[in-house]
Parts: sequence; C-alpha cells; structure tokens
Amino acid sequence: MNIQHIQFKENQLVLLDQRKLPLAVEYITCTTPEEVAEAIRTLAVRGAPAIGIAAAYGMALGALLGRDPREVAALLGSTRPTAVNLFWAIERMLSVIETSAGAEAAVREAARIHQEDIAMNERIGAFGASLLEDGTAVLTHCNAGALATGGHGTALGVIRTAVRSGKHLTVFIDETRPLLQGARLTAWELQTENIPCYLITDSMAGYFMKQGQIEAVIVGADRIAANGDTANKIGTYSLAVLAKEHGIPFYVAAPSNSFDLSLGSGDHIVIEERNGAEVREIAGVATAPPQVPAKNPAFDVTPASYITAIISEMGVIRPPYEENIKLTLSGAKERMRHA
Ligand code: MRU
Repeated sequence: MNIQHIQFKENQLVLLDQRKLPLAVEYITCTTPEEVAEAIRTLAVRGAPAIGIAAAYGMALGALLGRDPREVAALLGSTRPTAVNLFWAIERMLSVIETSAGAEAAVREAARIHQEDIAMNERIGAFGASLLEDGTAVLTHCNAGALATGGHGTALGVIRTAVRSGKHLTVFIDETRPLLQGARLTAWELQTENIPCYLITDSMAGYFMKQGQIEAVIVGADRIAANGDTANKIGTYSLAVLAKEHGIPFYVAAPSNSFDLSLGSGDHIVIEERNGAEVREIAGVATAPPQVPAKNPAFDVTPASYITAIISEMGVIRPPYEENIKLTLSGAKERMRHA
C-alpha cells in the first residue's frame, strides 16, 4: 500500500483520517499533543501499533512546544486503555525526553519507533506466511493492516507477504461492527492490492466455517498477557471459539511491544467501553430507537487455549505460552540491546 497514513513533517503530524475511509481520503494535521490525543480518542488513527506511533509523535510535539513531558504523557495515556503499545511508546519517549538534550532527539526517537514497527511487521509477515499454504481461505477480523501499524500490518502483513511470495489466498473479511473497521479499512486495503476477498457480516463466520470455506483465522492483538491470553477487537473471542469447534487454526500476529508481561492473565486487561451511540447507529445513521440502552465494549479477551500460535517478529510462539513467550521475548530484548 503506497499511501502515507502517518507522516511527521515540518514539525506537524499528518494523519490519514481513518474515520472517513473508504469514502474519502482526507488528512488531518496535528500540531499539539491535544490534537493527537483527540485523533486517537476518536479513531482518526487506530490500531494498537499505529496509536503507539501517533502518541510517540504527540510526545515529540510536546517536547517541541516545551511542554511538561509528564503532563503530555498523562494526556496521551488517557485516550484509550486497552492497547499496551500506547503506554509502551509513551514510556519509551518519556525516557528519551527526560534524559536527552532537546526536542530534536524526541522527534528522532518517534521516527525510530515508527520505522522499527514497519521492520517488525515485515518479519511477522515472513514468519506468518510460512504457516499459510497456497490456496488457503483465511478469515480476518477488524483491521490489523498497514493502516493499523507503521506500515505493512500484522495479520494483514502475513497475508500480504504470503501473496507477494506467490501464494493464492482468499480473504474473508468480517465487517466488524460497530465501527466497521473490516468493511471500511481491511476491504479497502485488500482491494487496493487486488487480493481476492469476500466481505461478510460478523454473524456469517460460523456458517462459512461449517461449510469448510474458511481454513484459517488470523487476527491482530491489542495486548497479550504473560500466559498468552489476547485482547483484540470485540468479536475475536467468538471467532476463536468457532474456530476451535471446527478444527480451524487460529493465529494471532503481533509485535513484541504488544505483550504485557506484567499481567499474569487476560483477566487483568482493561477493556475500553465506548459510547452506546456507536451501536445504535451505522456511519452516523440511526438503526435503533434513540433511547435504547446499548453496551459497547471495544475489545474482548481470547483465552490462550484457543490460540494455535502467536506470530511475533521473533518467531512463531506455540504453547505452552507462559514459558515460550518469556523465552521468545527475552531474545527480543537482547536484540534491542545490541541494536
Ligand atoms: O478500535 P481499533 O480499531 O483501534 O481496534 C483495532 C484492533 O482491534 C486491531 O486488531 C489491533 O489493534 C491490532 S492492529 C495491528
């Protein structure tokens, strides 16, 4: 995908407005941490790695404006609670801003976080592509593509790499209510690259699995606990249960900064609750009585026992997760130290 969805130029953060896709390709410009926080909160930029990158640039903008880094960190950290990448990026920026001389170093660090994310996704793509045989029909949920990351994508990155290596895949895209990231963003990305796909409503997944038309599921992650339990877009858990019932492999693709080893299990992951209005309407058009109470958890947690493998930039992690995640990620830390 050639589009530049996150750019930092002339001390401004320019973001492709993902709320408008696919109907319009429009950009917003952020010059303050407040504007970046608003862009994250309202999903103009979304997807765990992408919000981490945007927050890193938000921290850099704060440094350029001579703002108190702790206050900026608190502001950006208050936007969305579930994706750990956000907090990881803010912490990394804080340690640079508080120890280094000047805002330019902060801008360089944010750009480094951005570039590293793309490189991690390429590696995830290479590891993950080896798991998908030529001719596989794969289901994905939400958008874990280039738009959700620095570029290339995690779950879609695996699909992209497999297709580039000559494999013929067919992608089933869950539309992903309430905000339709699958229909609006994943379908747009796949169409742009002519990757064969079918858009389905979320409730159709079980039907196609039972028919034998879906042979693998691959999704991204917002936070992975030490035992492998994985938070991702609401609806992911249902897919994992369905996949297990039908004997279909269920893969999670995520970089090492999506893991939160401070949490023993997914029970401790904070799930973002969004406004019920998002459930009562589609693209701003009411589809329910205006007063009907609605619930709107943005994510759910898939227990590790439903996950066939987690694809990270350090390799493919299989059960027992507790042990193998630690082993794999200690390798990631070692690599960072020598980088
Ligand atoms: O609410 P969103 O659109 O930010 O949710 C995004 C997801 O759930 C993605 O699957 C996840 O962040 C991984 S993106 C590589």
